[in-house]
Amino acid sequence: MRSRASFKSHPLHPMLVAFPIGLWVFSFVFDVIGRMTGNGLMWAAGFYCIVAGCVMAALAAIPGVIDLFFAVPPASSARQRGYIHGLLNSAALLLFIAIASYRGGSAVMPDNLSLFLSAIGVVGIAISGWLGGTLVYRNQIGVDHHYAGAGQFKERSVESWQKPVANLSELADGQMMLVKIGGERIVLARCREGMFAFSDHCTHKGGPLSDGALVGCMVQCPWHGSQFDVVTGRVVAGPAQRKIETYQTEVRNGEIYVVRKREEVRKVA
Ligand code: FES
Repeated sequence: MRSRASFKSHPLHPMLVAFPIGLWVFSFVFDVIGRMTGNGLMWAAGFYCIVAGCVMAALAAIPGVIDLFFAVPPASSARQRGYIHGLLNSAALLLFIAIASYRGGSAVMPDNLSLFLSAIGVVGIAISGWLGGTLVYRNQIGVDHHYAGAGQFKERSVESWQKPVANLSELADGQMMLVKIGGERIVLARCREGMFAFSDHCTHKGGPLSDGALVGCMVQCPWHGSQFDVVTGRVVAGPAQRKIETYQTEVRNGEIYVVRKREEVRKVA
């Protein structure tokens, strides 16, 4: 999924996280060298690296939180991974703030406790960085990829099921659009058999199908390659085992409407 916090389509979070990671790792290296050599300049550099790392971590957290809640698909394995990643980063930030205030200034030589806590912080951000790498390289969060002919990624929010979700001319054969209707994420897809709507949620681990590839009337999940028939929702190829939810579409005066499931209409009535 494309990042929601980006500059000229470059996601901000991966750019900014390099700073706290580098600064905190080097604070530990400087402190260890300072302790071993008795060089006060080294542990002063270590102290300032901790402080600068905390500032940059707080800055990096802003686009990170935006992407977690607006780019990572809800109810997916990536969302859970993102929560753990965020918690580890927050814990590391609090830990390094505590270390800086415990040391009290750049002139103070780091003691064993300070070094021990810094080592824990470095291990914590290494684990968190590994999770962040999984989010990008496996879950493709922040990756803007599209197959040839897919057109630009289209996304729209519609307040109610009574409103049209798109104009017929907006989607060419082989293209998809993500539509959010009252909190539900629905994909509109046009293939040779017509216009179809189905849940964005892959039944394997919640991958975003709107970010996948539409080949004929079959959609392939971008995470682990499950394939689904967009007409019936059936699984064409695993690892997914369960079919995806499909919705009926109607075209009136060139406008496309998605029909809410009957049982849901009853529940509300
Ligand atoms: S999330 Fe695994 S195939 Fe879709």
